[in-house]
Amino acid sequence: MTTACLFNPYDPAFLQDPYATYRALLSQSPRLKLPENFLQESVPNTDDWCLSGYADVSLALRDRRFVREWDNAKPAGLGTTANPRPEPPPFIKEFLSGMNSTMLFRDPPAHTRLRTLINKAFTPVAIESLRPRITDLVDYLLQPFMSGSQMDLIGDFALPLPVMVIGEMLGVAVTDRDVFKSWSIRIARALDATLASPQVLQEAAEAYRDLSLYLKDVIAERRQNPREDILTNLIRAEEDGQRLSEQELLSSCVLLLIAGHETTTNLIGNGFWTLHHHASARDLWANHPELGPAAVEEILRFEPPVQRTMRYVSEPVQLDDVGLQRGDSVYLLLAAANRDPSVFPNPDSFDITRKPNRHLSFAAGIHFCLGAPLARLEGDIALTRLAQSSLVVDTEVPAWRNMTVFRGLEQLPVHAE
Ligand code: HEM
Repeated sequence: MTTACLFNPYDPAFLQDPYATYRALLSQSPRLKLPENFLQESVPNTDDWCLSGYADVSLALRDRRFVREWDNAKPAGLGTTANPRPEPPPFIKEFLSGMNSTMLFRDPPAHTRLRTLINKAFTPVAIESLRPRITDLVDYLLQPFMSGSQMDLIGDFALPLPVMVIGEMLGVAVTDRDVFKSWSIRIARALDATLASPQVLQEAAEAYRDLSLYLKDVIAERRQNPREDILTNLIRAEEDGQRLSEQELLSSCVLLLIAGHETTTNLIGNGFWTLHHHASARDLWANHPELGPAAVEEILRFEPPVQRTMRYVSEPVQLDDVGLQRGDSVYLLLAAANRDPSVFPNPDSFDITRKPNRHLSFAAGIHFCLGAPLARLEGDIALTRLAQSSLVVDTEVPAWRNMTVFRGLEQLPVHAE
């Protein structure tokens, strides 16, 4: 594989510091045509583009000519599968078709139907009512840290918190956190398509099967004993038959468990790592907790947990002198757009009072992150507590996980002073 491309997620240096690449892309080639079949997920016989500028990324997220379903973009004569190589075994196909049936990978009208069913539980008002419970969970998880011994901020705090919160919202008792953690990590790695080797897909498919079996039991129990929770609402929609298929019911639960887990963990971990390098920002936040919401936005802009997404082009689009054709893939570098100097003054400086701060870390348009109000609330409560705590980071060598769509730390040793 060639490494001469300005955007090269396979380069280990990119993992350590993707922002150097984004700077180069923004200044030299904000609409970069990738070499043929450069990415593992490339569709043969179509072009791949990498967009970094804020205006382009924002347009592609909002414009209906950019779609998620290959069927809605494939040119005449090309196959029904976006990337037909290699033909996956049935076991893995089941996982892929499960994930592809979630709202994240659907276009309207299926997208609208699925999103409307879940949306109600995630309105800002509904989420704000969770504040006392999330505060209790944060304090409960942080208590052991205060003993002074070394702890891992990721494994002991940033990972369990979101899974406990979403578990309670769904009505799924997350009794065995380690099992959930391993399911979630393995499924998320497969969503990082660039690094999804057959081995990674195999592990994700196994995790998906185990999580599905677990959820099927919970769903069967909930059918007998309905409650007022998201799961019961989804079951009602499935029983109605019109609104949700059985596979969609299952994969919606998987999506909520995974989407909320992986990303919020990284918001908290990336956030504390960033504060470690910006002591004056940490002091300011600690003394002015009312800055929490704005500070969370700046962490999201500066170290986004989701660095990029992609769309297919369904009809020709002209971006100045660049013409995109039906069937092309566009990789949208959210994290690069967040540092576009034409929108963010001093984009490489971390400023928790930055205003306005219209970052694209939750995307935009119809797929704008459904869980954003929840992630913002969890981030505000958790990071305000951390900023005010006596916790200090015990390493200068960040252990970035081997992922390039998601960005987060494997571990972060800390101790209370
Ligand atoms: C979609 C980021 C937390 C559920 C998205 C997308 C992004 C994103 C970028 C859009 C992807 C695309 O358009 O291709 C994040 C970040 C989070 C976070 C950075 C934390 C800091 C959560 C949470 C939940 C959640 C807590 C739920 C519990 C979803 C769902 C979608 C989504 C269901 C699909 C929405 C749709 O397709 O209409 N998220 N997310 N996310 N997110 Fe989040």
